[in-house]
Amino acid sequence: MRIDLRSDTVTVPTPAMREAMAAAEVGDDVFGDDPTVNRLEALAAGMAGKEAAVFVASGTMGNLASLLAHGGRGRDVILGDESHIYRYENGSASALGGLVFRAVPTKADGTLPLEALRAAIHLPAHDYHYFHYSRPGVICLENTHNRCGGRVLAPDYFAEVAALAAEHGLPVHLDGARLFNAAVAAGRPITDWTRHVSSVQICLSKGLSAPVGSVICGDAAFVREARRMRKMLGGGMRQAGVIAAPGILALTQMVARLADDHRHARILAAGVATLEGVVLDPPEVDTNIVVFRMPSAADAEAFAAALEREGVLVSDFGGGRLRVVTHDGITEADCRAAIDAMRKVRAGMIA
Ligand SMILES: Cc1ncc(COP(=O)(O)O)c(C=O)c1O
Repeated sequence: MRIDLRSDTVTVPTPAMREAMAAAEVGDDVFGDDPTVNRLEALAAGMAGKEAAVFVASGTMGNLASLLAHGGRGRDVILGDESHIYRYENGSASALGGLVFRAVPTKADGTLPLEALRAAIHLPAHDYHYFHYSRPGVICLENTHNRCGGRVLAPDYFAEVAALAAEHGLPVHLDGARLFNAAVAAGRPITDWTRHVSSVQICLSKGLSAPVGSVICGDAAFVREARRMRKMLGGGMRQAGVIAAPGILALTQMVARLADDHRHARILAAGVATLEGVVLDPPEVDTNIVVFRMPSAADAEAFAAALEREGVLVSDFGGGRLRVVTHDGITEADCRAAIDAMRKVRAGMIA
C-alpha cells in the first residue's frame, strides 16, 4: 500500500494530458511562436479577468518574476510570516532581486491584519525616516493559504487590502497556487479575488494535475515586464507547447473535480480528529489540506515515520504539526485506509 498525502504536487498527468502533449503544436515561445503556449496564456488571462498572462516553469518562478516585475531593488515586499514566498522560496526575491522582506504576522485564517499592513507601509513622516527606511514596493497575499491549512480568504478581505494598497499606490500580488481550490470551495469564480489584485500566480501542477508550470496574469504592461524577468531567470522556454498543452486541460477539465479532494480532506480530518492527543490546527478544513498537531515535535516525527512504514506518506510542518493533502490520486477508500493506519500507529505509540 502507498497512499501519498504529502502534497498535491505528486499528481501525475492524466491520459488526456499525455495525448495532448504528444499532439501539441509547437514553435519557439521566446519568439512568441508557440501556438499552444499562446492558447494557454490567453485562456488563463481570460479566466483571471486580466489583460495578459505568461507561462512559467513553476509557482516559485511565477512569484519571483512577479515580484521582480513590480519592485525595484531595495523596495519592500510586505507579506505574511507564514506565507510560502517568505518561508519556502529560498528568500529568492531578496537573494536574487535585492528586494527587502517585510514580514507581518499571519492570522490563523491566513489573513494579514490590516493594522499590521498599514504599519509596514511606513511612509516617511519626516526627513529622519525618509533617509533611513526602505520604500514599500508590493503587498503579497496567499489564497488558499498553505500553512494555515488550506484556508480560503474572503473576497471582501481582498477588497480591504486592495483599498489600503491603492491609498499608497502599491500593487498587490496574489500567490494563488491553489486559487481554484478557493473558488471551488466558495462556489465563486476566481475573478472575485483576482479583480482586487495587480498580479496573480496560479499553479497548474498541483491539484489541477499538469506535470509542470504556472501562469502569472496581470495587465499588459505587468506581463511584458514579468516576461522579461522570466527570461532573466532562465525561464524563456522554446517548444514549451509540449508542457503547455496539459496546462490547457488543467484549466478546462480539472477544476470541478477539486470538490472531490475537498470532500476527501473532510473525511481525513474527521478521522484525524479522533486520534488520541491529536488536534486539527486549524480546526476548519476549507479545501484539500488538513493540518494537525501532535503533542510534541518528537511525536510528530515518530508518527510520520511509523506511518511511512505502513505506506502512508505525510508532510512534517515542524513544531509538532503534520500536513496531509488530498488530490487526484487519492480515493475515498485511500482516505479510510490512511485513517486505519493512523489509528494503528497512534495506538502503538500510546501503548
Ligand atoms: C502556496 C504556494 N505557493 C507557491 C508554491 C510554489 O510552487 P512550485 O512548487 O511550483 O514552485 C507552492 C508549492 O507548494 C505553494 O504551496
